[in-house]
Amino acid sequence: MMNQREQGKIGSRGNRQLPPWFLPGLLTLALVGFLAPAFLEAQEEPRRTALDGVYSEAQAQRGSSTFRSSCGYCHTASEFAGEHFRRMVSGDQIYWFYEYIRFNMPQDAPGALPAQSYADILAYILELNEFPAGSDELPAEASVLRGIDFPEVDDR
Ligand code: HEC
Repeated sequence: MMNQREQGKIGSRGNRQLPPWFLPGLLTLALVGFLAPAFLEAQEEPRRTALDGVYSEAQAQRGSSTFRSSCGYCHTASEFAGEHFRRMVSGDQIYWFYEYIRFNMPQDAPGALPAQSYADILAYILELNEFPAGSDELPAEASVLRGIDFPEVDDR
């Protein structure tokens, strides 16, 4: 019984001929290959949050008037401000909110606005939530928006 099973092991002969460092070497290579991309990615750019001044004052002004004309006949600004809002988006990339409104709103004409207008509305909503303005506008670029998070709200 025992013998048969050992004979049946695939590669049991071949393994004996491999140098002793073969398996550890292979594992090390695999580990390096697995970790290196994550390491390089982490080096790229530090993540930012909505607290880092990611939109400009002028942009929020523009967003405010776009909100009034394109969203205001169904929504009030207060729906998107305050603790309930910050809890809803807690820890999310701001990109998800941008994508949500871009694909779903205005509900009677989803995606009808230029991409930059959605970014402007997002800037306005950041201002409503008292996130500070900075010197640069928030661009309508997925790669940038993916790098910015809403801060986590303590759930207590
Ligand atoms: C014609 C009416 C209408 C207009 C205009 C409209 N919305 Fe909406 N919106 C709705 C309705 C109804 C819902 C809830 C149902 C749903 O999720 O589809 C909603 C949901 C939302 C939500 C999700 C809220 C939540 O608590 O989950 C967001 C965010 C939002 N709208 C943003 C906007 C923005 C920004 C605009 C302007 C670009 C806009 N909406 C224009 C009707 C509208």
